[in-house]
Amino acid sequence: MPIHTSPNYWILETRHSAYAFGLNKSNLLSHCYWGKRLPFVKDYPAPFEPSGWASTDGYDHFIPEEYPGYAGTKYTDPTLKVTFADGVRDVVLSLVDFKTGGSPQPELALRFKDSAYPLQLTLHYRIHEEYDLIERWVTLENLGTESISVERAFSAKWTFPHGNGYSLTHMYGRHIDEFNMQREILTPGLKVIESRRIIPSHRAVPWFTVEREASENHGDVFFGTLAWSGNFKITAEVTEYASTRLSIGLNDWDFAWQLKPNEPLVTPSAISGYTPNGFGDASRIFHDYVRNELLPHGKVLHKILYNSWEATLFNVDETSQANLAEIAANMGVELFVMDDGWFHNRNWDNAGLGDWFPDAKKFPNGLGGLIKRVNDLGMDFGLWVEPEMVNPDSDLYRAHPDWVIHFPTRARTEARNQLILNMARVDVQDYIITTLDKILSENNIAFIKWDMNRPASEPGWQDAPGDPRELWVRYVYGLYRVWGELRRRHPNVIWQSCASGGGRPDFGILQFADQVWVSDNTEATKRLSIQEGFSQFMPAITMEAWVTDWGKETVPLEFRFHVSMCGSLGVGGNLLEWNQAERQMGADCIELYKSIRHIIQFGDQYRLIAPQKNNYSAVQYISKDKSEGVLFVFRTLIPDPFRFPVIHLRGLDPEALYSIEGFDQPRSGLAWMEAGVRVELKNLQSKVIRITRLTQS
Ligand code: GLA
Repeated sequence: MPIHTSPNYWILETRHSAYAFGLNKSNLLSHCYWGKRLPFVKDYPAPFEPSGWASTDGYDHFIPEEYPGYAGTKYTDPTLKVTFADGVRDVVLSLVDFKTGGSPQPELALRFKDSAYPLQLTLHYRIHEEYDLIERWVTLENLGTESISVERAFSAKWTFPHGNGYSLTHMYGRHIDEFNMQREILTPGLKVIESRRIIPSHRAVPWFTVEREASENHGDVFFGTLAWSGNFKITAEVTEYASTRLSIGLNDWDFAWQLKPNEPLVTPSAISGYTPNGFGDASRIFHDYVRNELLPHGKVLHKILYNSWEATLFNVDETSQANLAEIAANMGVELFVMDDGWFHNRNWDNAGLGDWFPDAKKFPNGLGGLIKRVNDLGMDFGLWVEPEMVNPDSDLYRAHPDWVIHFPTRARTEARNQLILNMARVDVQDYIITTLDKILSENNIAFIKWDMNRPASEPGWQDAPGDPRELWVRYVYGLYRVWGELRRRHPNVIWQSCASGGGRPDFGILQFADQVWVSDNTEATKRLSIQEGFSQFMPAITMEAWVTDWGKETVPLEFRFHVSMCGSLGVGGNLLEWNQAERQMGADCIELYKSIRHIIQFGDQYRLIAPQKNNYSAVQYISKDKSEGVLFVFRTLIPDPFRFPVIHLRGLDPEALYSIEGFDQPRSGLAWMEAGVRVELKNLQSKVIRITRLTQS
């Protein structure tokens, strides 16, 4: 059993790591250990007892609590803050009991009650043993009659081995420039990473690593994420006593929740892990976890899709789409996706959102004719929708102007000429379920790209059943209900999550979506950097990557294909303008991708040379049984003379013999990893090199 319990001490063990906590002498639940799994139960340290403290700080300020409520003399960043009906803002929790259980993953739940008020808190732990991951969330319940105002309820606080000098890596970005990695030393005080936009947003990603001098292949790394598709907050704190901690959860900015009797508040899951093997291993752990545990279709190879957006924008109709489909099919594309522009009155971005039925002028006989033509070409058909949105110029808005998020006395600020439907409202949820269910039921649709193109503003909700500031959270639970219901009714549909590119990439959305559209930036050299950032926590199978015409004047088509082949390959260029040679190159690359995609989508990924730091890069994928791999090498722009550094392959069986495409002599896996390979490239050249195991070790 990976959970060891005693009346006041708990050890959670995974395959290689362990996490321990216990009640200290004052009955505060204190973090004790996180790191390599130790041989004996008695190896784990006892809860910390401060030996002395000053009147300026107080005893409880020193305790690295698992889940500190704002109370007493705790001046560090709390995970919980509440106001009781009589105005008291101090929470004193004592353990009531705990239980273990859970299937298939073991779980531990510790139940606490406030000493004077009817507040109950349950800390939940779930162990993903084979992934070295621990999942945490909390449930808050009101056992009384008067409501309690919850002003902060994070999912977890993670405490690192005592000391300072840790570095935090997080990601920041903007539209068309997502997933930039930022590594910085944590100094005393609080570092906050957050989203206030109702989606995680391009600006920040609910993901982190914390370590001291780790590298891609070596060193202790603590890493984690929040499975949540809305406002989140990460606070990383170094106390004045050199204790380093990180909290993660729902953002408490503009947040308050009326906790009513019989209506528990359940927070999203925080999932974290420890590895002694560097950033690369941390990523691979998450890749496996996502594919095996989260994705609805994690074991299904993704089809190569064509998307019409960059070719036709809003000018879609049966003929224009069918013309593109024909060329795409000849190149070997397997799924044809019609993007924006197909629905009622949608000729530009200023009208139509909300009216999810085919435009009568563009598709007088519905979508059936186009879908049949696509299917007759041997391809599946996919469609773009943006269900959470409405244009003021739409039948839906004219009928239900009160359905949008707004304050009645304030302007309804439009972005891209659109407003946001209040997904927290059940009538809005039901409308979206009904309209999308109709489209999916009446048509042979295999794929949906679900877009979300603007953040929230003027976050009013007049008929809120509780505190109107619950909107930020209830919106996301509403979204999950809609998407979950549609998935239940149409289980074979593959969904893609898009929010103006990579605005909503998180482990919460992956319960529904198998893919993420990571950026509207499809320029290949920039894309390399975006893809490196995305790969920190998401596997290549989730990374939809189109080859488009961006940068075609300078970046060769083959290079553009190679970049997109590092994920789930798609094509988005205007095929009508591709000449015969370009279409042939497309067909060749697609054929090559079909022969290696199982390695990319299901294998282990090794980032060998990082594009965010260099004008050259290399990334390798190797099948789980180590028998076949593929190496991608890119050079962007570097003045000559330049010699590409030796590339050290990774993840090979050291004793087995491997041949590497382009090199005469087979060598041991160890040789390819230690002596490496030399690849020479000119500016804007790329190579795809296959790795084949010839003998068993
Ligand atoms: C967003 C998406 C694009 C495209 C357009 C359509 O910008 O990110 O890929 O679908 O919307 O309007």
